[in-house]
Amino acid sequence: MTLVQKITGWGLFIPILIFALYGIVQEVQAGNFRYVRNQTYVEECGACHFAYPPQLLPAETWTIVMSELDDHFGENAELDVETSTEIVQYLHAHALGVAAPSRMSKMMRNIPDEPPLRITEFPAFKDAHAVVKEQLELSSIETGFLSPCADCHRLANSGIFDKELLHPGYGPASWGSSKPE
Ligand code: HEC
Ligand code: HEC
Repeated sequence: MTLVQKITGWGLFIPILIFALYGIVQEVQAGNFRYVRNQTYVEECGACHFAYPPQLLPAETWTIVMSELDDHFGENAELDVETSTEIVQYLHAHALGVAAPSRMSKMMRNIPDEPPLRITEFPAFKDAHAVVKEQLELSSIETGFLSPCADCHRLANSGIFDKELLHPGYGPASWGSSKPE
């Protein structure tokens, strides 16, 4: 290995290490609740999209989502009875209103009598993301545009969506007048 290769190697490695450590510290600080992950859920419901943490929807809404998997937002996501029973139990045990971790209880605000099936259509979700439309200079936010939570929320996989913990470049403060890539 030449000296140049060594320097380039460490030059990449050290920032990555620092970034990772920084992430862990922030995660510990933000995590005043323990996010329970279920492997079956992550595998089955994370196959096509981000595996949405159970505390994002009320138990009744998860029941409906799980009972209509053969026509799931235009896709067939059907599961066998055993797998689906395990997933329903997991979702119910940690649904919105039960686990109610730090910031997520905000999602309960103004929920209509018949809640939508999409997290992204909850009134509190729309309120929280009104600024995205403004910052990205969009005329409207299309259905599905905000569904990949982890694209912007860097600790989404730990169930943490604090606005202070967005990916660099996705916070209104850092967006300034230009759009992120
Ligand atoms: C075959 C692919 C596929 C699988 C498997 C799948 N989904 Fe989906 N899911 C979709 C599609 C497509 C959408 C709509 C995404 C969009 O509009 O961008 C969606 C959307 C959702 C949404 C609404 C997201 C929003 O916009 O707020 C929820 C909740 C959801 N899925 C839950 C689940 C659960 C629970 C499972 C496991 C039982 C699951 N999905 C498995 C394809 C899938
Ligand atoms: C295009 C980027 C983007 C996507 C995708 C996105 N968000 Fe956000 N989200 C934001 C921004 C930016 C804010 C902060 C708005 C502000 O400054 O008030 C935010 C705020 C939030 C908040 C309020 C946090 C707080 O500290 O008050 C929650 C909860 C949240 N998002 C959940 C989600 C979930 C769940 C998804 C996926 C279904 C999602 N977001 C998808 C950009 C995004």
